[in-house]
Amino acid sequence: MEKTQAYKRIQELTELINDANKRYYVDNAPTISDYEFDMLMKELESLEKDYPDLKSADSPTGKVGSDLFNPVPASGSIGVNGAKREFEQYPHRYPMLSLANTYDISEIQAFADRVAKGIGNVCTFSCELKFDGTAICLTYRNGRLYRALTRGDGTVGDDVTENVKRISNIPQVLKMPADFTPTRSNPYPWPKEFEIRGEIYMPWEAFDRLNEVRIKEEETPFANPRNAASGSLKLIDSNAVAERGLECTLYHVLGEDLNFQTHAQALDTVASWGLPVSDKRNICTSIEDIRDFITYWDTERKNLPFATDGIVIKVNEIPYHTELGYTSKVPRWAVAYKFKAEQALTRLVSIDYQVGRTGAVTPVANLEPVQLSGTVVKRASLHNSDQMHLLDIHIGDYVYVEKGGEIIPKITGVDPGRRCPDAAQPHFPEFCPDCGTPLVKDEEEARSFCPNQSGCPTQIKGKLVHFLSRKAMNVIAGDSTVEQLFNKGLVWNVADFYELKKEHLLMLDGWKERSAERFLNSLQDSLETPFEKVLYALGIRHIGETTAKSLARHFGNIDSLASASREELLATDDIGEVIADSIKEWFSDEVNIEIITRLKSSGLRFATDAVKEKLSDSLEGKTIVISGNFSIPRDHMKKLIETHGGKNSSSISGKTSYLLAGEKAGPEKLRKAESLGVQVIDEVRFMHIIGQIPDKSDETNDYLLNEQLTLF
Ligand code: IVH
Repeated sequence: MEKTQAYKRIQELTELINDANKRYYVDNAPTISDYEFDMLMKELESLEKDYPDLKSADSPTGKVGSDLFNPVPASGSIGVNGAKREFEQYPHRYPMLSLANTYDISEIQAFADRVAKGIGNVCTFSCELKFDGTAICLTYRNGRLYRALTRGDGTVGDDVTENVKRISNIPQVLKMPADFTPTRSNPYPWPKEFEIRGEIYMPWEAFDRLNEVRIKEEETPFANPRNAASGSLKLIDSNAVAERGLECTLYHVLGEDLNFQTHAQALDTVASWGLPVSDKRNICTSIEDIRDFITYWDTERKNLPFATDGIVIKVNEIPYHTELGYTSKVPRWAVAYKFKAEQALTRLVSIDYQVGRTGAVTPVANLEPVQLSGTVVKRASLHNSDQMHLLDIHIGDYVYVEKGGEIIPKITGVDPGRRCPDAAQPHFPEFCPDCGTPLVKDEEEARSFCPNQSGCPTQIKGKLVHFLSRKAMNVIAGDSTVEQLFNKGLVWNVADFYELKKEHLLMLDGWKERSAERFLNSLQDSLETPFEKVLYALGIRHIGETTAKSLARHFGNIDSLASASREELLATDDIGEVIADSIKEWFSDEVNIEIITRLKSSGLRFATDAVKEKLSDSLEGKTIVISGNFSIPRDHMKKLIETHGGKNSSSISGKTSYLLAGEKAGPEKLRKAESLGVQVIDEVRFMHIIGQIPDKSDETNDYLLNEQLTLF
């Protein structure tokens, strides 16, 4: 690859990896599989090896991913600062590193060779399960659990001690082993202080239970037990943690006063103090032994009550750990062999074509039930017609099913060798399976849509259910209520809900005075729903909760949003072409405009509080572009502009009143402001303009803080 191409690809990979890291560690909602992630990382490592001068100092290849809620620099106890930080953060005594990994068994030989060369000797290896959870570092002081830190960014971790104390198999006080005789000089078997690291995970049973509840309560289910474990560990309420059924297995002991000769001896000893250590480990003396251990567990892991994603192979003799040392990211004395995602082979019985509330038609496979990663799988996604062609799938085929980052398993392959000669090839429908309208294919998304948005019963019912759902208008009603109301012709679009009368509801099967009143009261309460949620509730394609928030904040009310040009929409944070087009299309439909008019007269909120609660007119008529970082988050700065009567814009033009420039403001924006004669102001000047600070600049921060507190 040429150097310019390599440069571009390195940038691309860095962005992809950083994004995947955030989604994995912080959001607990991965979008790519571990395998895909590891392949991106390996590609970046190899490019950086070929072009060392293109490697940036903060490349993700040199760091462990960070799970910190709010990354801050390390310095002793970094304490809570206001209400925003969820956990105190403390530095790790020893950096908390990751492990080198491979999917290729032959690389284990290369690892053993590197070790032998490094120590100039032979050694033994401790082989263990790789627990698929979230890493934890426990400190025991005087035999008591003193502190529990997450991995964080490897240097600083979040203090989750209170939550860890609610995990039933982690002892708060160590146990005296039966064979230990205390003496005056040696009263305890453990040192005054030591650290022990391991993994907190959620067994399959607890995971399935949790997701069942989340689905019932319309919360997004966790994609896998690992995300469920790390999400649970960071819950604010420790009592809720206790109910999550988390477990812990510890696998690495560290400290100054430990005299263990081998890793196995260390684990056996701490187990005798009551610490949870796995018995599924083995000391291997040859590559063949290691290979056997891997092969055995690659099959047997399916019968474990928790998830494992590989085998960890560690040099057993501890003095060699010091000799081999660490890279910036991983120890040289250990390696992880990762299992390929678990697959199950089963028969494809039929394919349903499901119409979603936005009209997207998704092929969903009905399978002969099969056990996969702890659950029975009966249905799997086939994504779209392109994927069906790519797989060359036939009805009755034996198919491979995998669980990826998503909750719904997917079909990843077909075994054509077992295909019946007369197996039929499925045809993706050309007409909507529900209303018969010809489907339209969106080439960019490779998906087919039913364009009959206001006439297709499944789409209408889907939109009605979405409108009432908890994250939208939060009206107490189940899918069956919507079904009944729709079937009786009482509700056709969301505006009809607010025109329902008690007599209408009493016409429905099983409805009594009390249930009718409860539903009507809940509809009445929903009038208080903030604009951003109302906007989300409308079910405009591509407008999820976050986008709705951005739009509500930017435009302030529905009329400004409805009349915004494509360019204005594109100038809003997080809005790209697809979303801008979808908004324009939605507001160009007269049916939708009429719905808005009716909802407005029913009393729903179509403007943000910020617009209603104006603090001053000091920025009236001013258009402001902000660039760079400020002492308060950018979103808060934008809200301040609006509450003082100004308008935010993202691009500088002759109409811009000020460029509000923070730290690291974009040089391009500064240049443009200068060339157009736009006044550039800093944060302090801005606060003067809106009357937030008197003329004593040394008080700036206090005033900024007050402003934050009163507003947010
Ligand atoms: S030993 C210096 N042993 O896998 C690193 N790690 O993907 C010592 N993990 O960072 C780690 N099971 O969080 C070790 N038996 C095991 C493990 C294990 C799971 C985790 C750990 C590590 C990650 C790397």
